[in-house]
Amino acid sequence: MAPYKPNRVVIIGTGAVGTTTAYTLLLRRRMPELVLIDVNHQKALGEALDMNHGMPFIGGVKLWAGTYEDCREADIIIVTAGASQKPGETRIDLLRKNISIFRDIIQKITKYNSHGILLIATNPVDILSYATHKISGFDRRRVIGSGTVLDSARFRYLIGKQKEIDPRSIHGQIIGEHGDSEVPVWSLANVAGIDLNFTEEERQSIYENTKNAAYEIINAKGATSFAIALALDRIVDAILHNEGAVLNVSTLLNNYNGVSDVFLGVPCVVDRSGVREVLDLTLNDQEQALFQQSAEKLKGEISKLDL
Ligand code: NAD
Ligand code: LAC
Repeated sequence: MAPYKPNRVVIIGTGAVGTTTAYTLLLRRRMPELVLIDVNHQKALGEALDMNHGMPFIGGVKLWAGTYEDCREADIIIVTAGASQKPGETRIDLLRKNISIFRDIIQKITKYNSHGILLIATNPVDILSYATHKISGFDRRRVIGSGTVLDSARFRYLIGKQKEIDPRSIHGQIIGEHGDSEVPVWSLANVAGIDLNFTEEERQSIYENTKNAAYEIINAKGATSFAIALALDRIVDAILHNEGAVLNVSTLLNNYNGVSDVFLGVPCVVDRSGVREVLDLTLNDQEQALFQQSAEKLKGEISKLDL
């Protein structure tokens, strides 16, 4: 019998997103081992200590502030490290700073780990997921961006609020960039298979509020953290429990609705292997054009990088 190997998740970056994700994973008891890494090791130590003092109320998780060597045994490595948006900045504005941070981080991870799944949250998440795939050399299935999982949740929340229906019962999704060119798939949105019957004005308002949600939150409190933590927790759960869940993560596309060689959020089947399958969407002409524009925008940014 093979020796027992506990599931281990490593989180790189212990800022707002990393710590909220760690705390969410902890409360949901997703894995027996959780490692926190940050360039500011003191910060990681402090966060680990604070969470460890809660163990008498939860138990069952071994959690510590570690080093890249701890990636050796990791099943999933979540990267949340890097600069975040200041009010008025777009996600793309972070690219120059975060690409150099990523070159360093991904090389350090792959020095110790060649088997795990890399789950990227740092922005601009689609471009950094593409860069991670190139730098790591990992199979495309094992490099996953958080993509439009969060945007789709915001979309479903806003539709549910308008219809006074539990957002879990709303079927709706955002595809494309996690950012300003994201695309709402209205042609397939429904509740119980029934068309949502929104006016054009209602659609526009829900889309704008979805797209601008992060700007609104960053203006109000400086960062977003809770919903992204729940989104990352959902992806981790789908992986560790080999669920085959359909989630709009960011993945490398190959002739998908006319788009190739870029990471974008689209519905994917996620299981222990990572992205097991990319599901083909039948988009209407307008959605397809917007999706292709979103891809062109990101490909333009990628072409300026030396990858
Ligand atoms: P933050 O400033 O609170 O935390 C960033 C952390 O990264 C800091 O603790 C910092 O010390 C650490 N760090 C910086 N360089 C590092 C390096 N080389 N190695 C290890 N750690 C390093 O930022 P935040 O609010 O947690 O946001 C983090 C990132 O997540 C941002 O890029 C933000 O835009 C992004 N984000 C993405 C989503 C999404 O849906 N994908 C949602 C929210 C935030
Ligand atoms: C979000 C981040 C900022 O909350 O990308 O959408």
